[in-house]
Amino acid sequence: MGYYDNRTLVTGGAGFLGSHLCERLVKRGADVLCLDNLFTGSKRNVSALLGDPRFELMRHDVTFPLYVEVDRIYNLACPASPIHYQRDPVQTTKTSVHGAINMLGLAKRVKARILQASTSEVYGDPEVHPQVESYWGRVNPVGTRSCYDEGKRCAETLFFDYQRQNDLDIKVVRIFNTYGPRMHPDDGRVVSNFVVQALRGQDLTIYGDGSQTRSFCYVDDLIDGMMRMMDSDKGFYGPVNLGNPGEFTMLELAEKVLRIVGSKSRIVHRPLPPDDPRQRQPDITLAKNKLGWEPKVGLDDGLKETVAYFRSIL
Ligand SMILES: NC(=O)c1ccc[n+]([C@@H]2O[C@H](COP(=O)([O-])OP(=O)(O)OC[C@H]3O[C@@H](n4cnc5c(N)ncnc54)[C@H](O)[C@@H]3O)[C@@H](O)[C@H]2O)c1
Repeated sequence: MGYYDNRTLVTGGAGFLGSHLCERLVKRGADVLCLDNLFTGSKRNVSALLGDPRFELMRHDVTFPLYVEVDRIYNLACPASPIHYQRDPVQTTKTSVHGAINMLGLAKRVKARILQASTSEVYGDPEVHPQVESYWGRVNPVGTRSCYDEGKRCAETLFFDYQRQNDLDIKVVRIFNTYGPRMHPDDGRVVSNFVVQALRGQDLTIYGDGSQTRSFCYVDDLIDGMMRMMDSDKGFYGPVNLGNPGEFTMLELAEKVLRIVGSKSRIVHRPLPPDDPRQRQPDITLAKNKLGWEPKVGLDDGLKETVAYFRSIL
């Protein structure tokens, strides 16, 4: 039995990243159990897989215990955009913390390898640029983003304590801004906002003056990195950054989107939301060295795919 024959649980599997991961895993021959409470995910995201005998969709909330036999667990369940995770902040923290406890408990019982989808948000509003894994971060514990940031930080703590206390086979990746087909059209994220606004002929809203930068990783690259981490040698726990170090200002992004869509929309400015980091960029040296991974898809190519997707659903 090869590693790709393993029974793999993907929590949050009907979401944006989860659905791409499920697809890739099924394609390489894994039996995939996709678990999701469909809070931000949808059956439509995995509709192409529903008839596949290797794929199973289970509606379940990770804040409740789960008993299944699996070899590998990718723990992605958690709403990822501020609009969604701030809707019910207490539930967001529960999803990260209770979800991690439940999935780690499951991994311990069935001796599964388990990977946590953590986030660049653990670095908060960073004083170190670009961010390296050894940087501890600067996170506000009592702000409106804290339910997500602190929940994810606590989940990382739980992963490493389960490893130290129970010798669990853990993997932690810190995901930076990722975009691509199946992003939510209304999640308030900059790429989906711009693309949807441009396609609808509306003004493109930039928060602040537009000089703040972000890096954007195309979903296929990200999933490739995540799977490489899952397949990496036992004993390499991470955390490891996964993201695209290419940096773009919000203004540059808006202009690219307008060009690709062929839109005549205008760019308008709005005040910055609280706790919005000015700059965020991954240092991916560790991923390059340990996983032989780096992103391959440029922003223009990735945006073209993303625009095509949004055109098809709007
Ligand atoms: N997309 C990014 O740029 C990005 C960046 C950093 C980290 N991440 C992490 O990657 C993971 C996936 O993010 P995404 O962008 O695909 O977001 P998403 O919202 O599309 O996916 C999250 C999925 O988890 C499900 N979910 C939420 N709460 C749940 C619960 N209590 N029980 C079961 N399922 C639940 C949702 O229904 C959804 O399908 C998240 O953990 C997120 O924090 C994503």
